[in-house]
Formats: sequence, structure tokens, C-alpha cells
Amino acid sequence: MTLVESAADWSRDFGPFGNERETRIWLNAAHQGPLPRVAVEEALNALSLKRDPHLITDESFVIVPQRLRTALGHLIGVRPEDVILGNSASHGLQLLASGMPWRSGDEILVVANEFPATIFPWFIAERRGARVRRLEFDGPVLRSDHLTSELSDRTRVLAINWVRSYSGHAVDLEDLARVCTGAGVYLVVNATQGLGALPLDVQELGLAAITSSGFKWLCGPYGTGFSWIREDLLRVLEPTQAYWLALPDGAELDLDHVQLRLRDDLGARAFDIFGTANFLNFMPWAAAIEYLLDQGIDRIAAHDAALVDLLISGLADGPYTMISPRAPEERSAIVVVSHSDEGRNDAAHAALSSAGIDIAMRAGHLRLSPHLYNTPDEVEAAIEILLSIGSGR
Ligand SMILES: Cc1ncc(COP(=O)(O)O)c(C=O)c1O
Repeated sequence: MTLVESAADWSRDFGPFGNERETRIWLNAAHQGPLPRVAVEEALNALSLKRDPHLITDESFVIVPQRLRTALGHLIGVRPEDVILGNSASHGLQLLASGMPWRSGDEILVVANEFPATIFPWFIAERRGARVRRLEFDGPVLRSDHLTSELSDRTRVLAINWVRSYSGHAVDLEDLARVCTGAGVYLVVNATQGLGALPLDVQELGLAAITSSGFKWLCGPYGTGFSWIREDLLRVLEPTQAYWLALPDGAELDLDHVQLRLRDDLGARAFDIFGTANFLNFMPWAAAIEYLLDQGIDRIAAHDAALVDLLISGLADGPYTMISPRAPEERSAIVVVSHSDEGRNDAAHAALSSAGIDIAMRAGHLRLSPHLYNTPDEVEAAIEILLSIGSGR
């Protein structure tokens, strides 16, 4: 299937964006991914359950989380029962930071100017004697040689974003995982800005844990997320919660108080966010992930990469500096550029917006993040407007 054919199919499965007077072009998945139409329908189904509660069956409290776990398991190559349901990327990081058996002086490495979601949760571990150390380095991403020079026998965790939010660089996870595995360090990855747009098999890479928001490239509602924690790490993790609805498959709910007790046979389920049948969020999110899986994450990644190619080549001769990498192996679906006269970035953003094209301004730069529903024509429309922005002098 060519880029144009696939784009034509997928754009019809979303939106239309805007209103009767004006259609808009959404080049901002790194901020919010739109629900595909099948997920909008599922959100309406979820709403109708609440409008007419006799439709909410006891079984649905099992079926809704199970469906979501299954879809997420397929997405990252793990068993459904090993998926931890969450409401954010932060949820999974917080489980680790508050549940790991810290010893005084343990070190958690993070990247100095990382998106804060990947740094904040670890501060809780500092109350238990661990120390968060922010790594500074030359170049856009942490590389294994630098990581090796920073490791010590106190290092327990490296927590890092797969794709950098403000530049679009994708970290070489395989390279970092090799060093971490060799040194007995847990590699914890926030996959929020990659998952859904790039394929990821967590087992193959040898990661210790991943976490992700659901509302960007996974096209779910805001307030969705999940994590996966490797078995050896999960085993030493102290649950910091106990939930009446957390049960192994087939177990009966004990509403008679006969054997109320803390369970130790829950595995990943012991760490789910409360409200595991969160109908309004989890029903549409499951539908969105199933939809993405049906299209094929590899095909989506190829489509997104072709749109990124178009942006890179289309802007090559204009007044823009490419902040994002050009090399395919370092790229993601995020393209960040800056006008040579940086003060003109605001004007470029405003011109795009008044032409009905939505992108983001981040750290003073222009961030474009196309996804499967975007077409080459839409990307070309954005390029044309960007190229029309002169120096303003
Ligand atoms: C890398 C990254 N992680 C996490 C988030 C959001 O975190 P959370 O889902 O915990 O609110 C964002 C964007 O908002 C992000 O860019």
C-alpha cells in the first residue's frame, strides 16, 4: 500500500476535525491524539451505560479491564495478565519509586533536561534514602558510552524517555539496555512519545519496565495509561495499595467478609489503578488500541515516517533549522524546527493556526507531530505556510 492509499483510508477513520464552518488539520499527536471514530462510538456506548445503568452487568467489571489488558499486551508483546492498568505514565513510575526496596545511598539516574514526568516520581524514593542524580551530557541523547562512565555500584535505576518530547530524538534502547543489563541496573522507560507510532517489543529489548500515557500516539482519552514491569522487579516490589476488586481470574468477590485478607497471588494486578472497569475511559481506549493493532503498528510507523520525510525534505531549503534528527534510526514521528530568526516562530505558529493547522510551540520551537490520520496533502499545506514566513526584518 502506498502512503497516499493508506492515508486516504485512515483519515476517514478519524474526525472530521473542526466544525461545520472550518475543518482543521491536526499535526499535534505529541500533545493529544484524537479518538478514532470506533473509539468515539465506544465512548458513546460507555455513556449510555451510565445513562441507563441497568445495562451495567456484573461481568462488565471483569470484561472491560480484560479487554484493555489484552490489547495492551499485544501492543508491547507481553501477556495480558502482566499489564498494569493506569491513568497516566506517572502511575507506573510512581509504583516503582514508592515500591522498590531502597537502601540508603541507592542511585536513580535520570536525564537532566528530561520531560518532568519521568523525573518527579523518583523524588518520593529520596524520602527512603535513595538519591536522584540528573545526568548532563553533550549531544541530544544519552548514549551507552556516557552511561557506562556514570554508573557506580550504587546505581539501581536508569529512568529515561524513549522519545524526547521537545526534539523528537529516539533513544537507542537496545544500546542502553545492554549496558544496564550488564551492570545489574533496571532500565525503566517512559514510552509515551513513541508507543503507537513506533513498534516496541519490551521482552526482546530486555527492559525492566515501561510506562506510557494513553492519550497521545495511542489515541485514547486523557487520564489513561499503563505500565509493564519485568517479573524479577515485580517480585521485589512492595504493593502500596490493596483493592477490593483486584482478583485473579475466576476468583469470587468476598462480599461476606469470610476471608478478607491481603492476597499475594495477584501479580501485576496488585498494582492496577483503582477503578479497573473505568467504563468512560477504558472502553474507548481499548477500542482505539484494537483499531491501531488492526491497522498494524509497523504500517502506521511507515506511514508516519513517510510524513516526517516529507516535512524534512519540504523544509530543507527554507529558513528553518531542524532540531530533530534526520537519520531514520534516530527519528520518531515528532519534528521540531526553528526559524533562523527565532522570534518568527510565534508568527509561523499563528499563521498555521489561522490557516486551520494545529501544531505545538515547545521551548520556543515549532513542534509538528503527524500520525496515521494525516495525509501528505495536509503536511504539504503546513510546509507551504511555514515556507511563506519571512525573516520579518
Ligand atoms: C514524555 C512524556 N511523558 C508523560 C507525559 C504525560 O504524563 P502523564 O500521563 O503522567 O500525565 C507527557 C506529556 O504530557 C510526555 O511528553
